[in-house]
Amino acid sequence: MSISEEMYLHYHGLIVPKETHSYESLEFAQGFKFEDDDVLAVTYPKSGTIWMQEILPLVLNGGDLTPIHTIPNWERVPWLEEKQLARVVDKLASPRALVSHFPYNLMPPSFCTSKAKVIYVMRNPKDIMVSSYYFHQMAGFLEDPGTFDEFMDKFLEGKVMFGKWTDHMKSWRNSELGDRIMYITYEEMAQDLPAALRRISDFLGCNLTEELIQKVAEHCSFKSMQNNNMSNFSLIPKVYLDHDKSPFLRKGIAGDWKNHFSSEQLTRFTSVISKELEGESFSLPWSL
Ligand code: A3P
Repeated sequence: MSISEEMYLHYHGLIVPKETHSYESLEFAQGFKFEDDDVLAVTYPKSGTIWMQEILPLVLNGGDLTPIHTIPNWERVPWLEEKQLARVVDKLASPRALVSHFPYNLMPPSFCTSKAKVIYVMRNPKDIMVSSYYFHQMAGFLEDPGTFDEFMDKFLEGKVMFGKWTDHMKSWRNSELGDRIMYITYEEMAQDLPAALRRISDFLGCNLTEELIQKVAEHCSFKSMQNNNMSNFSLIPKVYLDHDKSPFLRKGIAGDWKNHFSSEQLTRFTSVISKELEGESFSLPWSL
């Protein structure tokens, strides 16, 4: 199965969409100078990236709503590897927050020597695949996903942007960043957002009061984000993101895979993923 050379570019073995990435933007990321107080949220696509773009500014600035109501998410907490970073980098408030889909092995040298903290957000790969399937339908800059069954093959073979989920996961789970990295799951955030926010706030040394935790949770809820034009991608022209085909903020739940996978697909998916994770010292936070 091949991927569209017209829509994607290859960078050190990684597949990325040309619309949002260029060779220059990927090189800009390599030369990016991390500062010790930078905070980076890393995700495999469709694991909760824009959720972190809402959460981080609120946690870092004590619940001030101004950034999330006045700056589009992609400029407020930009992607390290995307084209817009060079344009907005000088405008970022300190401490800076960024997101990235890079696997650990593509992190720039300055990240490794800095003390910048990382929050790695994991999501059940079955739900990632479902979310990604709909995203490929609505995003004009991604290949048509074909049928759900065909897309499953592409996903399992890593013929999708940012490659195989298992490779991404392995790279960050084995990164040995000690107390610079915190692992959190989408499911944990979906089940009890205030508890997840307390963990994030403690990790970042922000120590938000309970009142602020509740306020941040309210503004980072699925409903609030759906209603926030600075976070729901409604500012992006339809030719790039067509919310009539599927909204970006689609369902926002854990376990939607149960509405999509046949028992044969479940067996196929589970066997490929388990095989690729065989022998790894970390365990998954969900059963496959
Ligand atoms: P679904 O398609 O399953 O709804 P990313 O930002 O990494 O592309 O991930 C997008 C997924 O995160 C989508 O999943 C989206 O709905 C979900 N998401 C974003 N904000 C959320 C929130 N506040 N609560 C729950 N899910 C959220």
